[in-house]
Amino acid sequence: MDKPVLITLPKIVDPRGNLSFYEYPNQLPFEILRTYWVYDVPGGEIRGSHAFKEQQEFIIALSGSFDVVLHDGIKEERFSLNRSYYGLYIPKMYWRRLENFSTNSLALIVSDKLYNNEDYVRDFEEFKILVNEK
Ligand code: TYD
Repeated sequence: MDKPVLITLPKIVDPRGNLSFYEYPNQLPFEILRTYWVYDVPGGEIRGSHAFKEQQEFIIALSGSFDVVLHDGIKEERFSLNRSYYGLYIPKMYWRRLENFSTNSLALIVSDKLYNNEDYVRDFEEFKILVNEK
């Protein structure tokens, strides 16, 4: 997949409490090598203004809500993650930022790569040049 996709994950409704999941390859298009999470975000803060050269990600608002804003080098698209059964797939080479975090929100992010600082593109002008070369 080379486009971002908002995937509605299975939801097993149960009076004892609901349950959702994802698994590769049914909902998740890659195998997970790393999981991290972002939490205790103060109101108004923005995380993750950068792109990845190779890494793909899948983001879920496990609790609360926030927006993921993606830029493909030409246009911007905003995805509001406000249900714990939505998962946003982000291909490599999308500029992305996370904002509008609600109080006590929890962002779960899984990736197909280990952490590698070399994979980051942190300069938006450099990103536009790189993405438009392809
Ligand atoms: P970073 O991805 O730059 O977060 P943001 O773009 O939201 O600011 O990560 C912040 C710091 O955390 C950075 O110094 C590297 C470290 N880090 C790891 O050590 N391992 C990881 O898996 C991640 C995602 C970050």
